[in-house]
Amino acid sequence: MPTHATPVPRHLAIIMDGNGRWAQKRHRPRIIGHRAGAQAVKRCVEFCLQQGIEALTLFAFSSENWNRPAEEVGGLMKLFLGALEREVDELHRLGARLRFIGERSRFDPAILARMDAAERLTAANVRLHLNIAASYGGRQDIAAAARSLAEDVAAGRLLPAQVDEAALGARIALADLPAPDLFIRTGGELRISNFLLWQLAYAELWFTDTLWPDVDGALLQHALDDYAGRERRFGLTSAQVRPAQPGSPA
Ligand code: FPP
Repeated sequence: MPTHATPVPRHLAIIMDGNGRWAQKRHRPRIIGHRAGAQAVKRCVEFCLQQGIEALTLFAFSSENWNRPAEEVGGLMKLFLGALEREVDELHRLGARLRFIGERSRFDPAILARMDAAERLTAANVRLHLNIAASYGGRQDIAAAARSLAEDVAAGRLLPAQVDEAALGARIALADLPAPDLFIRTGGELRISNFLLWQLAYAELWFTDTLWPDVDGALLQHALDDYAGRERRFGLTSAQVRPAQPGSPA
């Protein structure tokens, strides 16, 4: 169990909020903000590659976002499809492994096919795990893991006494990756909004009023600098997690 913040988080998780307000401030339709948000995603991926961050998980579309006006949902779907068509080859060249978490059966077959193809193409890449949470909800993620446990118990593959944190954690999305070390939310709201509820248990939280389309490397570096100064205690005391100083009594 790591006890101190490593200089650079291994896994960064981001709620990219503020696209709509960014557009409204410019008297433009919300979709213009989402398009500018897609450019910020590219800057963020570049930053993670430069910093040697191992995993980046982005909340692109929540299970609740389906209830937005049909025009906005349609615009976002077109934007996702366009991004998949244009960006996947370059991400593959850069060594990114793409994965989508969430209820993917709700997507249009054309988008679904592109998601599957992107995952297959990039499956062996290891430089950056780029996870896109799309039609994702943290409660739904935990419920699916609980259902999988229940199925194993019902089939006799698992005893009820074997249902523990490790068994559930192994069935949650992104179980093969280290849990997020740092969570960033842009756009000024101070909440987690049903993102990675299980996985964020011990993440360091960092909030900024900056709207997502305005995010650049300098802002992300500011978040990393703050993170590097955090003491991660995982429920222990400060004395327990601080390495002994040279010359100090044992
Ligand atoms: C939240 O801002 C943002 C979204 C619901 C969509 C996120 C999508 C992108 C950043 C575009 C591209 C993404 C990928 C992965 C290609 P909001 O609309 O809730 O903003 P508001 O709070 O100002 O209304």
